[in-house]
Amino acid sequence: TTGHGTGPFIAAIDQGTTSSRCIVFDRDGRIVSVDQKEHEQILPKPGWVEHDASEIWDNVQEVVAGAIRKAGITKDDVKAIGITNQRETTMLWDRHTGEPVHHAIVWQDTRTDALCKELGRNVGADRFRRETGLPLSSYFAGPKIRWLLDNVEGLQERADRGDLLFGTMDSWVIWNLTGGVNGGVHVTDVTNASRTLLMNLRTLEWDDKICASIGVPKSVLPEIRSSAEVYGEVKGGLLGDVLGGIPVASALGDQQAALFGQTCFAEGEAKSTYGTGTFMLINTGTKAINSYSGLLTTVGYRIGDQKPVYALEGSIAVTGSLVQWMRDQMGLINSAAEIETLASSVEDNGGAYFVPAFSGLFAPYWRPDARGVIAGLTRYVTKAHIARAVLEATAWQTREIADAMNKDSGVELTALKVDGGMTSNNLLMQTLSDVLDAPVVRPMVAETTCLGAAYAAGLAVGFWNDVEELRANWRRAAEWTPKMPEETREAEYKKWRKAVQRTMGWLD
Ligand code: G3P
Repeated sequence: TTGHGTGPFIAAIDQGTTSSRCIVFDRDGRIVSVDQKEHEQILPKPGWVEHDASEIWDNVQEVVAGAIRKAGITKDDVKAIGITNQRETTMLWDRHTGEPVHHAIVWQDTRTDALCKELGRNVGADRFRRETGLPLSSYFAGPKIRWLLDNVEGLQERADRGDLLFGTMDSWVIWNLTGGVNGGVHVTDVTNASRTLLMNLRTLEWDDKICASIGVPKSVLPEIRSSAEVYGEVKGGLLGDVLGGIPVASALGDQQAALFGQTCFAEGEAKSTYGTGTFMLINTGTKAINSYSGLLTTVGYRIGDQKPVYALEGSIAVTGSLVQWMRDQMGLINSAAEIETLASSVEDNGGAYFVPAFSGLFAPYWRPDARGVIAGLTRYVTKAHIARAVLEATAWQTREIADAMNKDSGVELTALKVDGGMTSNNLLMQTLSDVLDAPVVRPMVAETTCLGAAYAAGLAVGFWNDVEELRANWRRAAEWTPKMPEETREAEYKKWRKAVQRTMGWLD
């Protein structure tokens, strides 16, 4: 293929935490067109975060139609459509009407803390870790389903009658795309299922015992399929005209999709995605490695009936959303980009450290009782120092994950592939390289999440032949190398860890 204009193409939907987007890619993995739309963040109480799944489905249809229109192509040029999504965000809908029965409960939402604590009583948070690879945490989907059944009038009865379907956003989008109430397929993929606390990592099936312990009726659960296969075809709705008949051919959680889009296909290859939160994943091959250092064991991807590939993941709840918070809640900056200008106006953090434990602390601590702190304040500190501390928070949180990965896998980080919105911040990327003491590299196509979904869909329909062909598309766009003296790095890391200790114990 020679260029953007020459098809055929693959379309990918990324249903993310703050927006939905659709990107059309050509055979070289280059972006042909993009359309994107934000949705509302519903914040009913401290610690609660919800989305309106109907609004999200409307937006998805709009951006798919938009991207196809902007590309100036028709459905004859599109070989398949792939899905990637914010993971863990949980919803139930009525299979007869297609209506969501409640707002979706977002992954960041901490309302199931007490439930998780109760589930771990006498046994501890690792009760289901051997089977699922996950600690009991409000982050995951299973307890969120239980919360809905317990707290929304009449839902338990409707579930018992078999009227309700559960899904993370992949299932919701695929069900709607493939016809909704008129025969939509109710499926999820192994990567999304691996974030529910309900799937057994080795059998890749729902675990009956765990479902019973958490109280999730199996009748609501979708069928678990691979990440790259044809689930069905686009049918009906607003998209019937635009893409009717096109195979829906991939689903991956967004972080696994980014691993795929970064072509981390070999054991030991790792990537870190800087979005609302930050998620670092390392490919561990066909073995699921148990973590003893606070990481998650998760499915990386599964192509058709090939063996599943596993990953270790370090999840950080708050990174980009801290910058948004500085803008929207604190009003200290007018745009997200301004954080870099403000932070660059000073030499260092002036002694301030910001630990954004807004949803508790995720990896490697898993402390739901943590809340955010700014530590080390003196009269000297200005908003510029705080801006610097905000960026450093992202870097230090990554360092803690890298250390945990090193402990669990024995693999020394030689370079880190990065992507996501925050990677356009040069100061952050330099700081990251400094605190990791390793090179940081960013690929030409920074939209690795959509790219990964497109790659998986393309493999499923034979648009690409194998992963080696995809690897050839990865090209370096930028690289940062460490400049910080060793003593500074160690002294700063110590202070950071001190600040982390100050976040814990706020729910007592
Ligand atoms: O686990 C949550 C993650 O999938 C959300 O990613 O990029 O939508 O914030 P993002």
